This record gives sequence, structure tokens and C-alpha cells, in this order.
Amino acid sequence: MKKIAILVGARPNFMKAAPIIRALRASKSKGKVKAESSKGKEKNPASDQLHLVLIHSGQHYDRAMSQVFFTELGLPKPDRHLGVGSGSQAEQTAGVMAALEPVLREIKPALLMVVGDVNSTMAGALTAVKLHIPVAHVEAGLRSFNREMPEEINRVVTDSVSDLLFTTEKSAEKNLRAEGVPPGRIHFVGNVMIDTLLALRGKARKISYYRKLGLQPGEYALVTLHRPSNVDAVPELREILRALVEVSKILPVVFPVHPRTRKNLEAFGLWKKSAKGPGLILTEPLGYLQFLSLMDRARMVLTDSGGIQEETTVLGVPCLTMRNETERPVTVEVGTNIVVGSNQKTVSSTQYAVGSWSERIVAEAGKILRGGGKKGRIPAKWDGKAAIRIVEITRKYLLSSNAQAQMTK
Ligand code: UD1
Repeated sequence: MKKIAILVGARPNFMKAAPIIRALRASKSKGKVKAESSKGKEKNPASDQLHLVLIHSGQHYDRAMSQVFFTELGLPKPDRHLGVGSGSQAEQTAGVMAALEPVLREIKPALLMVVGDVNSTMAGALTAVKLHIPVAHVEAGLRSFNREMPEEINRVVTDSVSDLLFTTEKSAEKNLRAEGVPPGRIHFVGNVMIDTLLALRGKARKISYYRKLGLQPGEYALVTLHRPSNVDAVPELREILRALVEVSKILPVVFPVHPRTRKNLEAFGLWKKSAKGPGLILTEPLGYLQFLSLMDRARMVLTDSGGIQEETTVLGVPCLTMRNETERPVTVEVGTNIVVGSNQKTVSSTQYAVGSWSERIVAEAGKILRGGGKKGRIPAKWDGKAAIRIVEITRKYLLSSNAQAQMTK
């Protein structure tokens, strides 16, 4: 029997891990995976059984940032909770590494699986590889080519030490091969975040959360904002706020405020100002189903998130990404995404745009209102089955020494 440990830590990790855990459990019911709780109770342990251990780093700890997702996504209670919490980039990364090392030494998993690009992802991968534990990275190979983003460093480092690299789009394989990753390690499996979206879209629709906010479907914009480059400095935050206030004069704007953003809005004296926008509806961070319900029926989404660019593409909702680049180019090439950057050059346009950043955001929002925005298509393999592919490949990798040898070629 082999143990497979999965590490989660921050909000976007939970919807990525959930379908993998579900697929592992389904595999278990076929006699291939055994949960931690059933340890020692199996009557006929087969040699090909996988035993799942879920570890939560505690990077996100508020109920609204963590527990609510465990409940809504049906995630099991973590077997281990590291309780690391917030801190600077180094403090948080080091905190996860120091807390995870003794746990991995004790559990001795055959493999550690990490998801996404948060600090816990990179910290987990580094800790495992130094203990000679193979690492699987889900959502490998995405590159913004902007090393000022903490997530870009996390992606590059994690991929460089991973043994199994599961990718969501073709650009990721190209990036990994350019960095010298052996092709046998790269597996184009699709998008686990979309597995979760497709599984819960029906349930989210029944909530009609927009009605609770007094809104009609298709008649509001939805905003998320939390990138340090957008919210940690006054000029950028003020510029985006200006754009949101302008858009809210034409269309109600729902803005669930991330804790980082709220802290900064308050510290910069912008909180009262943002709360005063005519059609700006500020809320606490929302649960998965509430947010999906809002996103599904929004006229447009304005965001600096990574995952939301992908989710809006699948929902067919126009998305304006308020960043200078995207590590998810398929959402622009195939999907509904348009990148509106502060540096006056967007990914979608080879022309330098005119006007201030806020003016350009408002202009793009106006185009969507008049023309309906990009229609887009669903990218290859974003079909709800990515986690099943991941579990199958991981199982083969762990159970076949031949497969392991092939993948390292
Ligand atoms: C992290 C990830 C980012 C991801 C985002 C999703 C990194 C480098 N960044 O950013 O990729 O898109 O999560 O939310 O890993 N806080 C709370 N309660 C919590 C968690 C955080 O109040 O439960 C506050 C704290 O003041 C903290 C701040 O939010 O200092 C930032 O949290 P942190 O985990 O450092 O980064 P995020 O901005 O959430």
C-alpha cells in the first residue's frame, strides 16, 4: 500500500483538490484507494491500494476563506493542520516548510501532490523533494513571465522539482519543455477547477444569489481584486477603484472584498470612498456556491484572479482581467477573456492604447455592454474529467516502477 499526501493551503487550492479527492475515493470504492480513517480496517489489503492523507497548511484560516469551502465542496477534514497563517513571503513559505517536514517524515508518503501556485504549493514541493519524496504538481507550466508576481516564482520553483506535471492548456507544455522538463513527466489532463465548476454549477444556479442582493440576471458586473501589484500600493488601487465607480454608474457592481484588499483600502483611507460608489455593492468574501451563482449570471466580470479567467471562459461570461499579462493565454485565445493592463499594452492588442488605466477599463466595459463581449469556446479537455485522468496517471506512476523510469526519461 502506498500513501499519497495532498497539500492544500489557500482558497483557490480547495476547489482544485476537491475533484482529485473525489476521484481518489471513487478509485477506492473500486479497491484501489484507502482513506486514512479506514487505516488498519481493510480485510484484504491489495498491493495496489493508495492511502490518502490530506494536509492543510493553514495559509488561509478565516471561515470565509477556508472552512466554508470544505463544507460546500465536500472536502474531508484534513488529517493534519499545520496552522501556519499569514506572514511575509519568506515567513509564510518557511513556516509551511518547517511545519510540513516533520509531518512528511512521520507519514512517509510515496508522493506529495500540490496544486496551483500559492506559497503553500511551492513550500510543499520544496520540502518533499528535499526528503526525496516525489512531487506531483497540478496546474503545472503556466507562466506570466512576470517575476514580480509571487505566484510566478512559486510556479517556476514547483515545476522545477516536480516528477509529475499535470497541465491545463497547451501553452504550459511549451513553457515546461522550454525550461528543459523531460516530456515524459508532462501530462495534459485538463482543468480540475473546471471539474468543480461543472459538478456544482446546477447547485449554484438554484441559489440565485443575485436576487438576495436585489439584482436581475445579466444586469450587474462582478469584481474580484487581491493581487499585491493591484492592491498593495495607493496609485494602482485608487485607479482601479476609479474605474469601478465609473462602471457602477451604468451597471451595479458587486465586489466581494478579499481580506488583503479590505485591509489596504482601510489603511489607505479609501474604504469609505469605495463604499460610497453609487452602484457599488461591497460584500464579505463569498462562499463557492454564492460566488459561482453570481459569476454565472453576471453581464461581465472584472478581476485580477487567475482561476476566474478560466471559470468565466467556461461559463461564457465576458471577463476583463486587470493585469498586464496572463499566465492562462488560452482564456484570451479561445475564451472570453480580455487583458486590460496598466502598462497601456494589453495581451489582446498589439497597439498601445490611449488614456489612463481606469479610462481603458471603463472603455472595455462599455464595449461589452454595447456588443455583448467575446463569446469564446471551451478549451480542450476542460470537460470535468481532469481529476480522473490525474488519479489514473498518478496510480500508474506509483504502482509501476517501469512507468516511473519512463517518466524520468
Ligand atoms: C494568496 C495567494 C494567491 C491567491 C490568493 C487567493 C500566495 C503568494 N498568494 O494570496 O495566489 O490568489 O491567496 O485568495 O500564496 N487574510 C485573512 N484571512 C485569511 C487569509 C488571509 O485575513 O484567512 C489576510 C491577512 O491579512 C493576510 C492577507 O490576507 O496577510 C494576505 O493573505 P496571503 O495568504 O498572504 O495572500 P493572499 O493575498 O490571500
